[in-house]
Amino acid sequence: MKRGLLIVFEGIDGTGKSTQLQLLAAFLRDRGCRVITTREPTDSSFGRRIRELYVDRGSCTLEEELELFIQDRRLHVRELIEPQLAEGALVLTDRYYFSTAAYQGAAGMDMDEIFVRNSFAPVPDIVILLTMDPEVSIARIREGRGEELNDFEQLDQLRSVAARFDSFSNPCIRRIDASAGLDQVQEQIRSEVSALLDEKEFTCP
Ligand code: TYD
Repeated sequence: MKRGLLIVFEGIDGTGKSTQLQLLAAFLRDRGCRVITTREPTDSSFGRRIRELYVDRGSCTLEEELELFIQDRRLHVRELIEPQLAEGALVLTDRYYFSTAAYQGAAGMDMDEIFVRNSFAPVPDIVILLTMDPEVSIARIREGRGEELNDFEQLDQLRSVAARFDSFSNPCIRRIDASAGLDQVQEQIRSEVSALLDEKEFTCP
């Protein structure tokens, strides 16, 4: 069986990753592809512990925080991502190790070391990196979702996270300006992913 493809969505909070991911999933399912959608942090016990941290980030050290994200990903890769890729699925994940490098890097951890510690995780076939000015993304979170910012999302912090996302030059990354309209952004994502399927000669039954 032909191995599936790993399609990762990345970007700062408020860029519309999860909406765009669901729209892409629907498009690919319409084409007859088997699609799995997932996210990080996951719903595992590690993921739940991470969500508790949103409220009170000071309750553990940066190293413990980083270790939780990595443990969560280890489980995610072993239990879902690898088996589904082996089954030939298109796996769409909302966040992956670029988020760890950007967010925990912004918090003060060494980015190169973060990438090394994530080397157990399969390299994505494509990373859709949604870009946006942090001021705009924060306004979207406040007005659009009616949510307060969590500890990972404060403006200065988010600027520093955005700068790290900007610095990545991995060949699998495609940057798309998320401040364009929803449909226009989705159009560009579909075009990038369709090009990838062609390039990999990946046909959905
Ligand atoms: P988010 O995608 O907002 O999750 P949800 O909407 O399901 O609550 O991610 C939660 C936060 O976690 C977000 O601010 C980014 C942060 N994060 C990290 O700091 N490191 C990581 O490795 C990941 C995956 C997320």
